[in-house]
Amino acid sequence: MYFVHPQIKLNTKNLKPIFNCFLKTPDLESLEDKLAFYFPNKKIIFTDMGRSAFQIIVEKLNLRNTQMLVPAYICDIFFPIFKKYNIQPIFLDINIKTFNIKIEEIEQKINPAIKSILIPHIYGLSNDMEKISLLAQKYNLKIIEDCAHSFDHKYNNKYLGNFGDAALFSLYKIFPTCRGGMIVLPVQNTVDLPKTRFSSRDFISFLNCFSLFAFLFKSFGSSAVGGSTAQKMIKKEKSFQPSRINKVSLNLFQYFLENEQKNLEKRIKLGLFFQNELKKLGFEIQNSQNNSFCYLSALVPENLNRDVLVKKLRKYKIFCTRIWHTPIILNPEVQKKYNLNLAEFPNTIEIAQRIINFPLQSHYNKKDIENIINKLKLLIN
Ligand SMILES: Cc1ncc(COP(=O)(O)O)c(C=O)c1O
Repeated sequence: MYFVHPQIKLNTKNLKPIFNCFLKTPDLESLEDKLAFYFPNKKIIFTDMGRSAFQIIVEKLNLRNTQMLVPAYICDIFFPIFKKYNIQPIFLDINIKTFNIKIEEIEQKINPAIKSILIPHIYGLSNDMEKISLLAQKYNLKIIEDCAHSFDHKYNNKYLGNFGDAALFSLYKIFPTCRGGMIVLPVQNTVDLPKTRFSSRDFISFLNCFSLFAFLFKSFGSSAVGGSTAQKMIKKEKSFQPSRINKVSLNLFQYFLENEQKNLEKRIKLGLFFQNELKKLGFEIQNSQNNSFCYLSALVPENLNRDVLVKKLRKYKIFCTRIWHTPIILNPEVQKKYNLNLAEFPNTIEIAQRIINFPLQSHYNKKDIENIINKLKLLIN
């Protein structure tokens, strides 16, 4: 069984430490020491989710009542936050090869009310931060790096998350932590957040990190009714007000962080093999040599129906997703509020129609990828 969200493979070595994550008090000092390796001279703040990290960044950078450059290809969880802070997003189309923003559109769309730019490194592929930093300097823009899809990933020998005025992370997308966001800010910042507790909903998310439960949830969960294309466990913030990460998730993050570098190396190697095999089948792959995310994204061949393929793969217990088949600019409310002309975003619309995310967990080996490819061949032929 193959899933795109982070999975835990239990064995005799990790059983006890994972169990302990439910009992112990997080060792914040050693976690901060470890993170100082990735983010030297920065302040790290843990939040309930990445979206609450974004809210705090908006407040810290004073971006209320301003305009922000934002990729058209991003999820619409940002919409309520834009509304709350009266931020007008100015959308940029994306590059069809990298799935990151078209940098050339920055200068075409710039205006004096724009005070910041949101830079997500989509599916773990870094943006050209050199070019973006120069433009940000020229137009006095604050850079918010969105590292929800990338941890432990370097650009020009420096870890992503160190290039902007602030960075946000979504820990549970990369580590099986149930919950968690993280902010990287200049060192002088402090943020006081209300506590949250590990809830029954978090426990279900924890169970979802194990293949058997993930399979049961996908097969019999409420979202499975009607057999939608790619059921998912939708994570919601516990409150729209930003809050702190719970202790169990923080412990799980600290535990899984220990092996991250080894896991990443493995994923990158397997990812390259996976990409080559997909190319042979006519898929277009994200132009990357070192994708660091825990799933592998590609565009289905033009003559294939992506949604039918995703459904058929489920019969072989291969659970792909379509993130994002409905990016923010396809939300009708967003279109209405910002008076969008979709003709300005041809690449975003094409990618939304053809994107497919394949499972790529750190514990896979070549045989797993071959298995997925063989099933794809059967379906395509
Ligand atoms: C690129 C990107 N940024 C930010 C977020 C928000 O992260 P979270 O789900 O932890 O709030 C998401 C996911 O929803 C995302 O995909």
